[in-house]
Parts: sequence; C-alpha cells; structure tokens
Amino acid sequence: MMVRCHCYFFCLIFVLLHTLASSTLNHCRNDQRDALLEFKDEFASLLELSSWNKSSDCCSWVEVTCDAKSGKVILLELPSTSLNSSLKPNSSLFKLQHLTKLSLYNCSLYGEIPSSLGYLSRLTILDLSYNALVGQIPASIGNLSLISFLDLSNNRLVGQVPTSIEKLFHLEWLVLSNNQLVGKVLASLGNLTQLYYLGLGNNNFSGNIPVSFSNLTKLKEVYLNNNYFESMLPLNMSGFQELSYFDVGENSFFGPFPSSLFTLPLLMKVFMGRNNFTGPIDFGNISSSSNPGLVLYLDHNKFTGQVPESISKFLDIDFSYNSFSSFGKSSEVLEETQIAQLDLSSNSFRGPLPQWICKLRSLDFLDLSNNSFSGSIPQCLRNLTVSLNQLLLSNNNFSGTLPDMFVNATNLKVLDVSRNQLEGKLPKSLISCNHLQFLNVQMNIIKDTFPFWLGSLPSLNVLILRSNQFYGPVYQPHLSAGFQNLRVIDISHNGFSGSLPPSYFSYWHNMARIVEQDYDDENLGNPRYGIDYHNTMEMVHKGVYTEFERIRRDFRAIDFSGNNFFGNIPESIGLLKELRVLNLSSNAFTNNIPQSLASLTKLEALDLSRNNLSGQIPRDLGNLFFLSIMNFSHNNLEGPVPQGTQFQRQNCSSFMDNPKLYGLEEICRETHVANPIPQKSEDMLEPKEQVINWIAAAIAYGPGVFCGLVIGHIFTSHKHEWFMEKFGLNKPRRFIKSIS
Ligand SMILES: *[C@@H]1O[C@H](CO)[C@@H](O)[C@H](O)[C@H]1NC(C)=O
Ligand SMILES: *[C@@H]1O[C@H](CO)[C@@H](O)[C@H](O)[C@H]1NC(C)=O
Ligand SMILES: *[C@@H]1O[C@H](CO)[C@@H](O)[C@H](O)[C@H]1NC(C)=O
Ligand SMILES: *[C@@H]1O[C@H](CO)[C@@H](O)[C@H](O)[C@H]1NC(C)=O
Ligand SMILES: *[C@@H]1O[C@H](CO)[C@@H](O)[C@H](O)[C@H]1NC(C)=O
Ligand SMILES: *[C@@H]1O[C@H](CO)[C@@H](O)[C@H](O)[C@H]1NC(C)=O
Ligand SMILES: *[C@@H]1O[C@H](CO)[C@@H](O)[C@H](O)[C@H]1NC(C)=O
Ligand SMILES: *[C@@H]1O[C@H](CO)[C@@H](O)[C@H](O)[C@H]1NC(C)=O
Ligand SMILES: *[C@@H]1O[C@H](CO)[C@@H](O)[C@H](O)[C@H]1NC(C)=O
Ligand SMILES: *[C@@H]1O[C@H](CO)[C@@H](O)[C@H](O)[C@H]1NC(C)=O
Ligand SMILES: *[C@@H]1O[C@H](CO)[C@@H](O)[C@H](O)[C@H]1NC(C)=O
Ligand SMILES: *[C@@H]1O[C@H](CO)[C@@H](O)[C@H](O)[C@H]1NC(C)=O
Repeated sequence: MMVRCHCYFFCLIFVLLHTLASSTLNHCRNDQRDALLEFKDEFASLLELSSWNKSSDCCSWVEVTCDAKSGKVILLELPSTSLNSSLKPNSSLFKLQHLTKLSLYNCSLYGEIPSSLGYLSRLTILDLSYNALVGQIPASIGNLSLISFLDLSNNRLVGQVPTSIEKLFHLEWLVLSNNQLVGKVLASLGNLTQLYYLGLGNNNFSGNIPVSFSNLTKLKEVYLNNNYFESMLPLNMSGFQELSYFDVGENSFFGPFPSSLFTLPLLMKVFMGRNNFTGPIDFGNISSSSNPGLVLYLDHNKFTGQVPESISKFLDIDFSYNSFSSFGKSSEVLEETQIAQLDLSSNSFRGPLPQWICKLRSLDFLDLSNNSFSGSIPQCLRNLTVSLNQLLLSNNNFSGTLPDMFVNATNLKVLDVSRNQLEGKLPKSLISCNHLQFLNVQMNIIKDTFPFWLGSLPSLNVLILRSNQFYGPVYQPHLSAGFQNLRVIDISHNGFSGSLPPSYFSYWHNMARIVEQDYDDENLGNPRYGIDYHNTMEMVHKGVYTEFERIRRDFRAIDFSGNNFFGNIPESIGLLKELRVLNLSSNAFTNNIPQSLASLTKLEALDLSRNNLSGQIPRDLGNLFFLSIMNFSHNNLEGPVPQGTQFQRQNCSSFMDNPKLYGLEEICRETHVANPIPQKSEDMLEPKEQVINWIAAAIAYGPGVFCGLVIGHIFTSHKHEWFMEKFGLNKPRRFIKSIS
C-alpha cells in the first residue's frame, strides 16, 4: 500500500514537473535566435538548415539544443554540413557564448580559426576536425578553460601549438593529428593530468618526451607517430597503468627498449617501427592473463640479439628490418600461442628454421624472407598450412626440396620461396591449394617439367618459375587448357623447349579480357597481397588504416625468354588483348612476327630479340600507342622499320644485328652517323636485360609492386632500388586482421 502510494505521489510530481519543463523548454531567446539566423546567413543557403526560420522556436531547430531553463543555446552540432566558407572573426557564432558543445566536423570550413573562439569560454567540447582550416591555432584557445575534448585534426594548421594550451587542465581528449604543426608541443602538456587520449600523429612536431610526462598517468591512447620527436623513451613506464595504445612509429626515437612497457596490464597495440631503437629486447614479465591480442610493431629499427620467447603471447608481430639474429628459448612457452601474423623478414637470422615455428598453429601470415636461414624447409610446416594465408620464405639459403606439405593448405593464397637453393621437383600437393593466387619459385635450382597440373587451380594469377632448371615442353595437347586466370607468367631462363601450336595462347582468358564481375566479387577473399585487384589493401599502420595504392589490376605479362622454344610465335598471341608486356627473347623462334601482335593495343613492352625471326616487322605495330619499350635486335628481320613515334623514339640498339632492316637513319642518327644500321659485333655495348628482368624484379619485392608500375621507365640495373624507393614497397603488403 505504502509503495503504491509513494509511486502515485512521485508520478504526479513528475507529470507536473514535466509539464512545467515543457512549457519553458521550447522557448528560445531572441538574441540567441538572431545570432543563429545571422550565423546561417554567413553561408550559402543550406537545405539542411531550412528549419532555421522565424516560424518556429529556435530551440526546436535541428542541430540546436537549448538550456531548458535559460533558453540559451548550449549545443550546436553541424557535422558533415557543407558550410563551404571561412569562419569570420565577427561571426555571430561567437555571440552564442553559452555553448558548451560545438561541432563543425567535416563542414568544408577554410580560412583561419578566428581568435574570437576565445569568447566561447564555456565550451567543454570543440570539434573542428576534417576541414581545411589553415594558419595557427589561436592563443585564445587558452581561454577555453573548461574544455575537455578538443579535436582540430585533419586540417592544414601550421606553426606552433600555443603554450596557452597548458592551462586547459580539464583536457581529456586532445587531437591535433594530420596537420603541419611544428615545435615542441610535449613540453606544454605535462600539466594536463586528465589527458587520456593524445593524438599528435602526422605533424612536424619535434623535441623530446619531458619528465613531466610521467604525471600523465591516465593516458590510454598515445599517438606521436610520423613526427620528428627524438629522445629515449622513459625506461620506467610502469606508471602508465591505463595505457592501451602506444604509437611512436616513424620518428627518431632512439635508445633501448623500455622493458617495463609490456608489463602494463591493458596494453593492446604498440607501434615503435621506423625509429632508431637499438640493442636487445627485454619484454619483462608479460602476465599471461592479460593482453589478449597484443599487437606489436618494432619494424625498421636497430634491435639486435634474440627474439624473446614471450612473443608467443602476442597476436601480430612485425620485427622486420632489424638485426635480430636468433631466438630465445621458446619451445615450451609456445603451447598456447595465438600469433596470427609473424614478420621476421629482413633480419640477420641464420641457421635452420627452429622447429617451434611449426607450433604456431594460428598463423595466417608468415614472412621470414631476407634472412640467412639455411637447411631444409622443415616438413612440420605442414602443421601450419591449414591456417596460412601467405608463406614468404624468399631470399634465404634454404636447400633440399620444397616439402610436399600442402595437402591441407586450402587457405594459402601466396607462396614465395624464391631466391633459395631449392632443388628437386615442385611438390604435387600444391594442387590442393585451391585459393592459391601467387606462386613464386624463381631463382632456385628446381629441376622439373612444366607443372601443367597447376592449370586447374582456379585462382592462380601469377606464376613465376624464372631461373630454375625446368625443362621439356610447355604444351601438350590434352593438358594445356588450364590457367584461365593467369595474369602474369614468367617461365624465363629455364630449359623449356619445343614449339607452340598457333592456338597456344587461346585459353588464357584473363589476359584476353578483364572480367569486371571478377573484381566486384566481394568473395574474392582477403586482399592481403598485391594480387587482389579490386579491393584496396589496408593495413593498420601506425594506428590508422592506410590505404595502399590500388593494384594496377589491368597488369598482364608473359615472359618466356631465355628458353629453347622454336617454330612460329603462335598467332593466338593476338587474342591476349590485355597484355602489357611480352618477352620472347633469347629463344629460337623462326619465321615472321605474327601480324596479330598489332592487335595488342595495350602492349607497353615487347622483346623479340635474339631469335631467328625473319620477314618484316608488321607495319601496324607502329600504331601501338603505348608500346614504349621494344627490342627486335639479333634476328634476320628485313624491310622498313615501321613509322610511328614509338618506333622513332627507340634506341638504335633495339634493331641492331638485322642486316636487311632499313629506315633507321632517324633512330640511329645520333649514335651511329656513319653506319646507321649496326651490325653484329660481340664487343658492341648493349643495354643489358633491358626488358627481360623487370617482371621478376617487381615480383621479388612483392607483387604489390604491380600496383603502381609505370612501364617504360624501368631501364636501369638499379631497378630494385628504384622500385623500392618509388613505391615504398620494400616488403609485401598485408593487412592485420585484428583491428578495432
Ligand atoms: C521553417 O521551419 C519549419 C520547421 O521548423 C518548416 O516546416 C518550414 O518549411 C520552414 N520554412 C521555410 C520557409 O523554410
Ligand atoms: C564529410 O561529409 C561528406 C558529405 O558532406 C561525406 O560524404 C563524407 O564522407 C564526410 N567525411 C568524413 C570524414 O566524415
Ligand atoms: C564552395 O565555394 C566556392 C566559391 O566560394 C565554389 O567555387 C565551390 O564550388 C563551392 N563548393 C561546394 C562544394 O559547394
Ligand atoms: C563582419 O565583418 C565584415 C567585414 O570584415 C562585414 O562585411 C560583415 O558584415 C560583418 N559581419 C557581421 C555579422 O558583423
Ligand atoms: C576569454 O573569455 C572571457 C569570458 O568570456 C572574455 O571576457 C574574454 O574576452 C575572452 N578572452 C579572449 C582572448 O577571447
Ligand atoms: C614538414 O616536414 C616535411 C617533410 O620534412 C616538409 O616537407 C614540410 O615542409 C614540413 N612542413 C612544415 C610546415 O614545416
Ligand atoms: C605546471 O606544473 C608545474 C609543476 O609541475 C608548475 O610549476 C607550473 O606552474 C604548471 N604550469 C601551469 C601553466 O600551471
Ligand atoms: C607531477 O605532479 C606532482 C603532483 O601533482 C607535482 O608535484 C610534480 O611536480 C609533477 N611532476 C612534474 C614532473 O611535473
Ligand atoms: C617505476 O615507476 C613506478 C611509478 O611510476 C614506481 O612505483 C616504481 O618504483 C618505479 N620502478 C623503478 C624500478 O624505478
Ligand atoms: C637513425 O640514425 C642515423 C644516424 O645515427 C640517421 O642517419 C637516421 O636518419 C636515423 N633514422 C631515424 C629514423 O631517425
Ligand atoms: C605436427 O602435427 C602432428 C600431428 O598433429 C604432431 O604429431 C607433431 O608433433 C606436430 N609437429 C610439431 C613440430 O609441432
Ligand atoms: C590434414 O587435415 C586432416 C583433417 O584436419 C588431418 O587429419 C590430416 O592429418 C592433415 N594432413 C596433413 C598432412 O597434415
């Protein structure tokens, strides 16, 4: 009874209060309304704000909230409204001095932030991010003494952060990332003890981490990435008990690894890559209960010594580009491992691959390339292949045969064992790799016949057998119908032989046309590697998603050079309309160059040199607009060189040693005035491997290179470096599966 009675009483009170409140709620003050209308008038007419008119109470307007009692505007939120204007110093916005929250996020604002911002001294939340604001942050920002959330990120702000910021004691969330700010900002922040989110990434900040930072014990997420900060990290970081996200990547931090870092109980993600950290790593006591899914990036530093056994506690590991040389005692610790991605590439590891690698049963990415591992590739890797997506072992000293370990490797998309000393045959179990897209075994000593049986792999895009001891025919009547999805095939520099029937190329549908639906198929799988063309690759790098270059999805190439093929060049080559690169050089092809070549309108590089081709160069090749690299030298070609700018731009040497070829006066004028048609001569200097090597060069540094490739500029023998610099692609791209 009592209960009911009480309830009734309170309900009554509530209704009364509510009625009262409602009667005052929608009651805008005229000065506030006028200020809002003036503010609206500062911009071109906005559909979004059509409700801002005098026929209704301003407290009911969209994106406006009033204080119920006073009728003053306290919240103004116009996110993603295209204001497309600057904020004037005398903007009526600054009359709304009771605002506690102002969001003009992504409003196409440009111009400077007016110093009148300081009038809005009651603000607790200010979001001006994702605009095009320029100039300096006004010192009057120090007037916003109640502010706890300040986001000016993703603008074009320059200059130093005003020191007045150190008075904003309530700041919990400070984001200035993605501007062009300079100076030693950190020194000003030591007093802001409430800070838990500090985003300064992608600016030009410099200086060091001041001692006062140790007072910022509430920090949860720290992004100092991509700046010029330089100092050691505090060795004792155990004060930062809340820290979960720590990103100092791409700076000039140096000194030893702070061993206390990984004892922090809430730590999730650590990015320390691309700095100058040195010495061995000691992770201290990582408690096994904590840190499920710890991600760690320590790549591109100068760490040395052992990889600590406790890495088994992590989820994703990138230790690439350091000088690690060995592993700590690891075997028993690893039983409960959850590592999904392990990148130890480009270090100084040597000797046999440790067996415990085979216990990392949840691995989906394993990159051990560019080390000096030796001995055989252990059979037990088969225990990993069930989950593995990418297996990258290139550029080591592995010997013996590639084990027949792929029976269960149904998830494998990328296999790169190039640049080792592997011998014997290709393992037949590769046939189980239903999702295999990329297979690179180049530069080993594999002695096998052509793997016709791989032709049935439905996703195989890229096949590189270059520089091995493969032999025998690449055509057999009943076997050659596969490989319908090939985009790149490089079987150069082997001992393949035989003639190719006219129809040889007619099955390679993916070189004949680009099937749009292939690319739009969301089910193509994870775009881990540069061979998934539709999706862009993403990687959690330095705490943000970085979208990598779109794959040049139209790239198609054939390299059969340096074998013993003879007979005619198959006429069906003309069907491969998407082909960009064709290299048939250094074989024994005879007879005419097929006219059908002229229908390869997208061709950018063509090398037919060093064969026994005769007859004329088809005149229509002169119409191939993109054909910027070509080589016809060392054949028996005759007649006129085709007209057309691309031909006229060639180096004289592209035609040399074809005694009956004429029309070269223009082309050869500069270098050989006296004898325009160079004849065969052993000591004549020729550009070496002009075309023939670059597919492989690209592949060697990860097929991601294909994405931005500008064919026609790749001549030099420094192409490896060139690629790496040009595209920043010195290792395979991948993305990390455990984000957010
Ligand atoms: C004024 O705002 C009301 C909504 O508050 C809207 O229904 C009306 O169409 C607006 N008038 C004009 C002229 O935009
Ligand atoms: C910004 O707003 C536009 C619409 O005006 C929207 O298309 C875009 O996605 C927004 N960008 C961000 C980063 O929110
Ligand atoms: C922004 O305004 C400029 C002129 O001030 C105009 O040229 C441009 O088209 C406008 N942009 C948008 C998205 O309205
Ligand atoms: C702001 O100042 C400009 C001149 O700088 C003037 O044209 C404009 O009318 C002023 N706006 C307001 C709202 O006072
Ligand atoms: C700071 O805020 C106070 C109170 O609103 C105001 O009187 C003063 O003019 C402001 N100063 C600046 C520099 O904006
Ligand atoms: C920031 O650094 C980059 C790279 O060094 C430089 O190009 C740019 O001019 C710098 N910007 C400012 C505002 O200092
Ligand atoms: C910052 O804190 C130091 C002591 O830690 C104090 O001396 C200094 O006055 C403070 N700065 C401000 C702007 O309050
Ligand atoms: C850290 O804070 C304490 C008290 O809050 C203060 O005494 C000390 O000076 C501060 N240390 C630094 C380095 O600012
Ligand atoms: C590290 O710092 C914490 C608090 O910040 C302190 O309690 C601890 O004694 C320090 N440890 C060492 C080894 O100095
Ligand atoms: C590392 O240090 C070397 C010289 O000690 C310097 O040349 C290099 O630029 C530094 N790298 C970074 C990322 O700071
Ligand atoms: C590989 O798996 C087999 C069967 O599951 C197991 O017997 C063997 O010990 C595993 N090898 C390693 C090195 O973990
Ligand atoms: C392949 O997987 C099946 C079932 O998971 C398992 O029984 C078999 O031992 C595996 N084979 C190899 C060679 O690992």
